[in-house]
Parts: sequence; structure tokens; C-alpha cells
Amino acid sequence: MAKKPIHFGVIGLGLMGREFASAAARWAHLLDLDFQPVIVGICDTNPALFGWYQDNFPSIRVVTENYHDLLADTGIDAIYCAIPHHLHADVYIDIIRAGKHLLGEKPFGIDLDANRRIAAAAAEHPHVFVASSSEFPFFPGAQRAIAFAREGRMGQIVEVEAGLLHSSDLNPNKPINWKRIARFNGVYGCMGDLGLHALHIPLRLGWMPRNVRALLSDLVHERPDGKGDTVPCDTWDNAVLFCEAEADGAAFPMTLKTYRIAPGETNTWYITIHGTRGGVRFSTRQPKSLWTMEYSSGGAQLWCEESLGYTPPYATITGGIFEFGLSDALLQMWAAFCDELTHGRAGMRQPFYCATLDETTQHHRVLTAALRSHEMKQAVDLEGI
Ligand SMILES: NC(=O)c1ccc[n+]([C@@H]2O[C@H](COP(=O)([O-])OP(=O)(O)OC[C@H]3O[C@@H](n4cnc5c(N)ncnc54)[C@H](O)[C@@H]3O)[C@@H](O)[C@H]2O)c1
Repeated sequence: MAKKPIHFGVIGLGLMGREFASAAARWAHLLDLDFQPVIVGICDTNPALFGWYQDNFPSIRVVTENYHDLLADTGIDAIYCAIPHHLHADVYIDIIRAGKHLLGEKPFGIDLDANRRIAAAAAEHPHVFVASSSEFPFFPGAQRAIAFAREGRMGQIVEVEAGLLHSSDLNPNKPINWKRIARFNGVYGCMGDLGLHALHIPLRLGWMPRNVRALLSDLVHERPDGKGDTVPCDTWDNAVLFCEAEADGAAFPMTLKTYRIAPGETNTWYITIHGTRGGVRFSTRQPKSLWTMEYSSGGAQLWCEESLGYTPPYATITGGIFEFGLSDALLQMWAAFCDELTHGRAGMRQPFYCATLDETTQHHRVLTAALRSHEMKQAVDLEGI
């Protein structure tokens, strides 16, 4: 099948820039798609990062330390942008104003005000397609949890738990980076880094919290700077948000966790939905396992484990009994972005689309309320934020 090329520029060539490029490089993994990303431009203020890209992507013809060079290039259709949070608003707005489609990294602005400035620019350029990165919902188990909820198989919701947990900050000797400095990462701290991951599915299912009571933990106050000195580490390490949400006119509690210090965890993303007639739970800690319960009055309450194998939204060459992982989820997310860009939402090969700009705004409202809640030591209503 002929594939329509989508010419991409990548701004920010660090951890996530490389993941994107790697996903583009194994596009052959996906079956029956009539579009393909081609990386033609790269930009980073650190030129030491250019080599890996140039060694692996002969399609690259623009290499620059100034992202305006990519925006001025008429041969570039879309930008993937993975840079520190304090730069999101200015750079995303420039990308949108240049008429380039944008897959930006979360949190889509360092704070709610920055996010709203991006949203205003997007509203002025409706022909530019803008979406946010958030890959975990593309795991087969996450997709099945979404389907379970949408099919109404759980009855009235009892409670929802979702989160992203890792433990890399348990080591006090881990050198500081921009994600641990509020000036660059934002005052949300761990919530800005991990919050959209926790909220993406609840928001997609229509479970926007009405109010939130948050407890934030600052466990590590300083870290080595990697040059022999110690510097302040002024971001929240952990956050737990107790929210009240609503489905079908009934309120239920929703607990969201974004932890950088969850001893023993390594980027564990999870969602659990308990209902009066059934429940579902999925965690990337056991990426093959989907747990479901179907309950009828007086019947046994049995959790069943199903081994899912490799059953993602977009068909691939991988056998159905194999394992699925984070880089597979990123590949699926890229396919969804390129699919929606090429065919529009209604014409997508499968219905699950990337996180929207509006969903990023809703998540910023929740995180802003969480900051206020922690400060005031009381629940904060989302109305008016
Ligand atoms: N979706 C996910 O699972 C996930 C995971 C990690 C990070 N992220 C997000 O990705 C983004 C980047 O995080 P990362 O982990 O890749 O960070 P990183 O520090 O590894 O990479 C960021 C890169 O941006 C470059 N940069 C800084 N200013 C620039 C500028 N003006 N122009 C061009 N490049 C510039 C830096 O030199 C660096 O190479 C953040 O928004 C973060 O929240 C997403």
C-alpha cells in the first residue's frame, strides 16, 4: 500500500525525542496504514545530541539549534516537541502560528495560564491539528478497561483509582535535573510530570472531578548537581488527590496518585474501576494481565485474570501471544496521531485518539485545584478554576 509521508521536525532531542524517532524508524511494524512519519528536521540547543539522529536517519536534511529554522521550512508538515515545561507555551504557540501540526509533550504548559495561552493560539488556527502525548491508554489492557467502562458492565461506580508510580527519586544521590527544579518543571512538581498519565482515561470517560483534596509530599529537599555541589530540589515528590467525580448522576470517589517515590515501582501506570456489578483493573506492572469481575446479586465475587498478549488498537506484525511494552504504546500513539491528522477523527482506523488540548486544560484545572487544596488543607471545588 502506498504510504503518504508526513514530514516531521523534532524539537527537543532528549529522552522522548529519541523515543519518537525510534518509533518512526520501526513504522514497518504497523500493518495496512496509508501514512508514514518521515523525520526531516531536528533541533536541540545541545548539538551533542545530533549525532545519534544523523547516524540513524538519512532522511534528516535540517539540523539546527534554533527551532525557528524548522518552523520556516515549508517541507515540514508537523512537529513533535519534547522540551522542558517552562518552554512549552512560547514554543508550542510559535509552532501553531507557523501552521505546523503539533504533537506536544504533556503537561502542555508549565501551568494553567500557559496552557490557556496555547489553547487560545490553537483556537485562532483551527486548521492546525494539535494533540498531546499520553501513551499508556494504548496498552491493550488499558483499552480493555476503557471498553469495560463504556459498555456499562460495572453498574454504579463504587470507586476509581489511577496513577503513575516510580521510585527513581528514592535514591537521594540521584543528581538533579530540570524535572526536579520548579523554575523549569513548574510548581506542580510531580503532578505536572505525571498528572496527565493518571487523568487521561478518567477524563476521556467523562469523569472530570468536581472537587479535590490533595496531599503533596516534599521528601527530598536537595540533590547533588552532578558537579560536586548540592543544590535545592524544590518540587513536590509525591501527590495523592482524593477527588469526587460523577457518572450517571451518582457521585463516587476517585483517587489519583503521581509518585516519584513509590519504593519498588518502576513507572507503574494503573487504573482500577470498582462497580456494583463488576470491576476492572490493569497495571503495567503486569502488562499481560487484565483483571475483571462480573457480579450478580448474591453471586460469587471472583476476579478473573486474562492474559492479553499483543492486541493493540492498530494491527502489527507481532504475534498475538507476545508481550506488549512502553515502546509499543508509543508506536500506537504515533499511529493514532498520524491517523487523525491524515483521515480526521471520524475516518480513523480505530476510534481511540490522542489526548486532546481540551483534556490537557481539564487536567491543568485539577492540578491547580490540587495545589490550592494542599495549601488550604481543605477540599477545593473545580468550578471557577
Ligand atoms: N510521554 C511520556 O511518557 C514522557 C516521559 C518523559 C518526559 N515526557 C515529557 O517530554 C518532555 C521532554 O522531556 P524529556 O524527558 O525528553 O527531557 P530531556 O531533558 O531528556 O530532553 C529535553 C531536551 O530539550 C532540549 N531543549 C531545551 N531547550 C530547548 C530549546 N529552546 N530548543 C530546542 N531544544 C531544547 C534539551 O537540550 C533536551 O535535550 C517534557 O514535556 C516531559 O514532561 C513525557
